[in-house]
Amino acid sequence: MVIMQSLEEIAKELNLTNLPKDRVERARTINMAKFEADSNRKINLMYLKSKQKAMYRGSVYNEMGVLESHFADFKADTYEQKANVLKARQIADRIAKGEKFKAVFTGNAGTGKTMLSVCVMNYLVETTHLACLFVSVPKLIDWEKTRAGGTDEQRAINLEKRIQHADVVVWDDLGSETSMQANSQAQATEFTQKVLFNLADSRRGKNDVFTTNNTSSELMRIYNPKLISRMLTQNPDNLIQFKGKDQRILNN
Ligand SMILES: Nc1ncnc2c1ncn2[C@@H]1O[C@H](COP(=O)(O)OP(=O)(O)O)[C@@H](O)[C@H]1O
Ligand SMILES: [Mg+2]
Repeated sequence: MVIMQSLEEIAKELNLTNLPKDRVERARTINMAKFEADSNRKINLMYLKSKQKAMYRGSVYNEMGVLESHFADFKADTYEQKANVLKARQIADRIAKGEKFKAVFTGNAGTGKTMLSVCVMNYLVETTHLACLFVSVPKLIDWEKTRAGGTDEQRAINLEKRIQHADVVVWDDLGSETSMQANSQAQATEFTQKVLFNLADSRRGKNDVFTTNNTSSELMRIYNPKLISRMLTQNPDNLIQFKGKDQRILNN
């Protein structure tokens, strides 16, 4: 959008009086270019913010209220909780600055992995334009199975598209889709491996946060090495281990 102003108006706005017309004309050209660049920047930011909002709304989870956590809500009473929340803040800051890596939050059930991954996501939504998506892995696999069975196909197709286009994906509860039984580390089915491999492959060079109740050696038994290499991290800065007590039991 270009607003035409008279030369006199421009001259007045720029505090230029009694200047030759060609200099005023040049000033106007510069002014217009700046105006257009500013407008383009604003439109671009508006686009990124609306993409971010739509992406966030497309999150898939099974517990109501799961997306409501912020760093300030995370109780840091123990040494371990303090260290974990600090590391999660550093991970969030590194993502915000543009670093690309995979992070893994691992440990027993109820220790705060999902909560802290949501804190990272909400921090990014509030401080950057990154489009963040939360995906419950068991739910994703359920949807893919339904799709393979010929119903609700579009639901899974749309989720796959969101996973491919998000800047940051939180993959929640990786490994627990393999079995309903706790501590069972049966190998994931061919179907699950294929779904996860294709999606993980589409996210090469992008930011992902995985939460899992399984140790890395358990994950290596559950999934094939090609899939593991796209999800796990060797860098200790990207790994948070939760060893505390089950907060669900403590709170009830
Ligand atoms: N440090 C913490 N401060 C406040 N609430 C916590 C903390 N850790 C866990 N919780 C709460 O305990 C419950 C279980 O945490 P969750 O993140 O779901 O565990 P996990 O994903 O490790 O199984 C949730 O309701 C969560 O909000
Ligand atoms: Mg969890």
